[in-house]
Order: sequence, then C-alpha cells, then structure tokens
Amino acid sequence: MKTDQQQQSLDWLDSPSLPFKPVLQTAASDNELAQFIHPVKIGSVTLPNNLILAPMAGVTDGSFRLLCARLGVGFTVSELASAKAISMRSRQSINLVRFQAQARPYAAQLFGADIDNMVTAAQIIEELQVCDIIDINMGCPVPKVVKTGAGSALMNTPELAGLIVSAVKAAVKVPVTVKCRIGWSKNSIYVKDFVKRMVDSGADAVTVHARTRQAGYTGPAEWQYLEGISEICGNVPFFANGDISQPNHIRELHQLTGCSGYMIGRGCLGQPWLFAELLGHHLFSDPHTRYLIFRHHLLDMLMEIGPKAVPLFRVHLFNYLKGHANAARARHLLSEERDPHRIFATGKALFYNETLPGIV
Ligand SMILES: Cc1cc2nc3c(=O)[nH]c(=O)nc-3n(C[C@H](O)[C@H](O)[C@H](O)COP(=O)(O)O)c2cc1C
Repeated sequence: MKTDQQQQSLDWLDSPSLPFKPVLQTAASDNELAQFIHPVKIGSVTLPNNLILAPMAGVTDGSFRLLCARLGVGFTVSELASAKAISMRSRQSINLVRFQAQARPYAAQLFGADIDNMVTAAQIIEELQVCDIIDINMGCPVPKVVKTGAGSALMNTPELAGLIVSAVKAAVKVPVTVKCRIGWSKNSIYVKDFVKRMVDSGADAVTVHARTRQAGYTGPAEWQYLEGISEICGNVPFFANGDISQPNHIRELHQLTGCSGYMIGRGCLGQPWLFAELLGHHLFSDPHTRYLIFRHHLLDMLMEIGPKAVPLFRVHLFNYLKGHANAARARHLLSEERDPHRIFATGKALFYNETLPGIV
C-alpha cells in the first residue's frame, strides 16, 4: 500500500500536464545516505537537497530538467547558452534557458569571454525572470567555444575569469556560480588557485568537474584533485562532479572532499529515477512505473515542442535502450523514426522485457 504522500509523488505519471510539486525532494527518513544528503544554500537560494543535475547540451532541455525535478533532484542547470546571442536577445538562446513548468530552483548557464556580453546577457535573463541563479561555464572543452576564450579556456586566463565573475555579480541580484574543471591538461592542474580566485571574485558556489580540458569526457574522473577545495571555499558551497552514479560514490566523495553536494551527469541518463533512489524513495523500480516515466518524458517534449520532439528524444531513447539485449538493432531501426507511437511501443517492450517491435 502506498501512503498519500507516495501517491502524490506519482500523480504526475498519469497526468503529465500537472504542475511540478517538490514532493520527492526531501530524503526518506530511513535513507542510507541521510548524513550526506541535505539542503544547501547558494546565496539567497535554498536547494531542498544537494543532488544536482549536470548541465548537458543536447540532453538537459526543459523536459529532462522537469522530469529529474519530479524525481527528486534538488537543483537543475540549463544547457550552456551563448552570452553573445542572449545579449542580442536571440529568441532561440533565451528559450534554451527559460524555466520549464516552474521546476525550481534552477540555474541558467552562460558561456562567453567578453565581460560586456556576459553582463548584458545576465541582466537580460534576470529581467525576464527565467532563472533563480546564473552559472558561468568555465569547463566546456569544445574547440568552437574554447577558441573564443570561453569555456575551459577561461581557466588559462584566471584574471579575466575573475573579472567576469565580479562584473556579473555586480550587475544582477541573483546568485552567480561557476563551473570549471581541475585544469587544462595533466601537466597543468591548478584548480585550487583557480577556485580561490573565483571565490575571492564573489562566486556564490563552485562546481568542479574532476577532469582536465585535455581529458574531455574520457577516462575516469580524478577525484583526488578535489581534496582540499572545500577548505578553500569556506562558506561558499563546493559541488563535486565526475563519474557519480552510485550511493558509494556519494559516501566516498564526502569522505575524500567534504563537498557540499554532488552534480550528476551521464550517470542518470537512461535512468533518471537514480535521484529518487539516492534519496531513498524506492518507488520507481517496477517495469510499469519506469515505462510511465519514459512515456512522461516523451509526452512532455511533445507538449513543449510538437512533432520535432521525436527526433530530439532519440538521444534519450538510446540511453534508455542501453543494456537491452537488442539495443543495437533497435537503434538502427529507430534512427529515422518519426512516429511517437512506435517510440512508445518500443519503450513498453523495453521496460516489460519483451521483444522490441520490428525485431524478429
Ligand atoms: C553531452 C554532454 C553535454 C555537456 N554539456 C555541458 C554544458 O552545456 N555545460 C557544462 O557546464 N557542462 C556540460 N557537460 C559536462 C557535464 O556537465 C559534466 O561536467 C560531465 O559530464 C562530467 O560529469 P559526469 O561524469 O557525471 O557525466 C556536458 C557533458 C556531456 C556528456
């Protein structure tokens, strides 16, 4: 028998248009991770818990952020958006960072290396009231971004990075946070000096992805370089990031770094119920509930953006398919699929462990 509160936690599965209610954000009282998962304050904004959905371009659109918030995550961040484009009031870029069904608290992430553009973009998004926090990207390794001096390139120009933080801070009332890496390459790991400068420049929180720019997204995250950062941050929250996907990772990172929270990226792809599980809400393990989550995900995208949702959902579909016996075949068969009903049928077969449609 489910309690009333548990039933409320699941209502949205049958009615995807129900507004977001933060019912799962509090950890279960018998949660094995209770001592590590707790609310945390970023400036004036209180996160109900310290599990954070990592920004992921092409993945953490509004529908995925809403889904993870419904499943308990304490804080979400937009995909990175160009400060230059926002400062020119590009509708497409502003759309990228707007709230989705009021799943809050939420940060919009900006990238750029021009102080004026960063300030103007931050002022525009504050004025439009599309987010609670502004995050500055100092970790993106993509050449198109790096060659403009933005993203992880800012770690090589710490003075400019500090000036951007202090200028944006002075221009807006919402908290301003920074997301960076441990350094540029294995021979230049200088995250501690960099974080100190960010905190001295006024950053309200710092997240560190425990890989270098050179490593990109490959190889294991090097958590050892996160040791000592909490001490540098003092009262400013420090969030650890990189390869977190299991309860023991939370425990280990806490012991190693004393971090204030945990940012999770690829670990939740294809299994957004990971957040509920880490919070000790074991409500989402049966195949039918998982299928309803999958269905909600695509339905919400269809409600938001119409038929274009189907090709955009493909990245998620392939993540949900991972580990399934016929995943490779299904990926091939569905790579051009435009009919949402075929995707729903595939999802159902996937979660009920039946033969996927079209596969003999
Ligand atoms: C597909 C993809 C897109 C990403 N896009 C962004 C982004 O827009 N902004 C950002 O700060 N980090 C971005 N990241 C980095 C993640 O936020 C995170 O730092 C990284 O994946 C390490 O965490 P993980 O090991 O838990 O995945 C991206 C990562 C991936 C895999």
